[in-house]
Amino acid sequence: MNSPADNPLDRVLVLEMVRVTEAAAVAASRLIGRGDEKAADAAAVEAMRKAFDTLYMDGTVVIGEGERDEAPMLFIGEKVGGAQGKGPKIDIALDPLEGTTITAKAGPNALAVLAAAEEGCLLNAPDVYMDKLAVGPGYPEGIIDLAKSPTENVKAVAAAKGVEPGDIIVCVLDRPRHSDLIAELRDLGCGVVLIGDGDVAGVIAVTDEDTTIDMYMGQGGAPEGVLAAAALRCVGGQFNGRLVFRNDDEKARAAKWGIDDLDRIYTRDELVKGDCIFAATGVTSGSLLEGVKYLRDGRMTTESVVMRASSGTVRWIKGEHRAK
Ligand code: FBP
Repeated sequence: MNSPADNPLDRVLVLEMVRVTEAAAVAASRLIGRGDEKAADAAAVEAMRKAFDTLYMDGTVVIGEGERDEAPMLFIGEKVGGAQGKGPKIDIALDPLEGTTITAKAGPNALAVLAAAEEGCLLNAPDVYMDKLAVGPGYPEGIIDLAKSPTENVKAVAAAKGVEPGDIIVCVLDRPRHSDLIAELRDLGCGVVLIGDGDVAGVIAVTDEDTTIDMYMGQGGAPEGVLAAAALRCVGGQFNGRLVFRNDDEKARAAKWGIDDLDRIYTRDELVKGDCIFAATGVTSGSLLEGVKYLRDGRMTTESVVMRASSGTVRWIKGEHRAK
């Protein structure tokens, strides 16, 4: 067993991380289907910010709601946790409401999500896009490679799985920018599962055989890429990510966070190093978690998952809460 001095995460109560995602999910759930993305996000941010203060840690947000001048709370660099200067130093990547549009429209797979790691172990990803490629556990290391074409990657995974390329099911965000990718996959005969939003859940779906999804491909948010990589570091599966810059301003943001190789392909373990914790609570129901449900007596239920890389433990937690 590690002594607390060896691993600061030992002193952060892993299960307590779920309180933080639960609080954000419950707050956002009141806005499900209300057509107001901003209000849903703001409610989740405020609740998550408050819940962090109950944790004994000296945390720093490294992936958050944006830069200090853009976000009133949970901005990059903000200190969180109730033991500043005393508790273990922890870096936090968070998305209080992953799927703001989903929540506003009452669609599937909105989550409140965070990852925690030892100081310096999460890539400080700027808020740009990321090309993502993921496959579930059980394949030889290096089976996927973002430097190769989608066709080559599908063929490699199909060969390792012992099936035809056309038997492979790939999850992709439904966006016009993916039209060539989708056409290439359909030419191979692949099943393409198009999701409207929520690629953290989309990437994690490759780790769960029940989803039947073998691979994840396409461009989404870079912060969401780091969060998904943290989950895969806990449960297995491979991930490649490459930041995508659309203009000089985005390149300048990267430089600010010390990223100088703009074309670099990051593996899962380059995005998230060392031990880490991943926690998520469902806001709306989806492939990973049940959403917040309101019972007749005013109580509500939540479903969460919390995982830890060093132990490989995955805990599914059902909560029942009294309405405040
Ligand atoms: P938000 O919760 O910030 O709206 O993100 C939802 C999401 O679908 C992410 O899961 C994904 O990474 C990103 O948006 C994709 O960005 P875009 O909508 O610009 O294609």
